[in-house]
Amino acid sequence: MKNLFSMEHLTNEEILHILDRARAFENGEQSKLARSYNVANLFFEPSTRTKTSFEMAERLVGCTVIPFDADFSSAIKGETMYDTVKTLEMIGLDAVIIRAEEDEFYNELLEGINCAVINAGDGAGQHPSQSLLDLYTIQKEFGTFENLNITIVGDISHSRVAKSNATALTKLGANVRFLCPEEWAGQFEAHHSWDGLIQDSDVIMLLRVQHERHTGNKKFSKRSYHEQYGLTAEREAQMKEGAIIMHPAPVNRDVEIADHLVECERSRIFQQVRNGVYTRMAILETILEERE
Ligand code: CP
Repeated sequence: MKNLFSMEHLTNEEILHILDRARAFENGEQSKLARSYNVANLFFEPSTRTKTSFEMAERLVGCTVIPFDADFSSAIKGETMYDTVKTLEMIGLDAVIIRAEEDEFYNELLEGINCAVINAGDGAGQHPSQSLLDLYTIQKEFGTFENLNITIVGDISHSRVAKSNATALTKLGANVRFLCPEEWAGQFEAHHSWDGLIQDSDVIMLLRVQHERHTGNKKFSKRSYHEQYGLTAEREAQMKEGAIIMHPAPVNRDVEIADHLVECERSRIFQQVRNGVYTRMAILETILEERE
């Protein structure tokens, strides 16, 4: 694996290798990398967990992290993504981790770039490192993906997490269903009510409502969304034994999920963040190993 752009490009074997390495890192194994690599995190959109988690993972696998501040970079002066990455490569970077507003920004980097590129979220496109940490969280819980019922709920058309997870989970044999308001279904066939979806779900995966990607003047009511699509105490009480709640976060409390459920027994929301460090160590090791 030379780069990580999209879950659509990964085989099941590649996915399972990354999950195995994440487990090894969680069990205290050290990185197999033979030397230190220079990496930088280019975040052109806000992030708390992906950026910090990549930086932690980079340090834990022995990388040297070169600071890059998108707001004070020459991208502000109009420099293209290609010229930015090529410049960093010529300075000596081995890998760049990029979050950008444009869907498929990486298409600009397919030719002429030799440093590794990891997609940390492209617009409403893909979020492969989030998907891999979600898969790791599910695998830790159930040991398999085959025949699990996974219900993805919320702002599906704007969600790179929904798209990445739908692709990967389906490839791995899970039964993925979607629940959302009609206007947010995008490319997917979705349910518009919780009827029949709660009791047999192994995983209820909630998505953040992405106001920053919405266009038009339609007024959004937090209360009405929560009543129709949110995970309320009444709905959580109908979930089956052993079923879990996930959310990539940041969470809009009392919108996607009732405030008190964020850290309830079934919730894996903060464990997902912890699993993200091990998974990103595995991603970095897998990609940087190719350069040895
Ligand atoms: N889940 C996720 O991508 O969170 P951040 O935007 O904080 O990185």
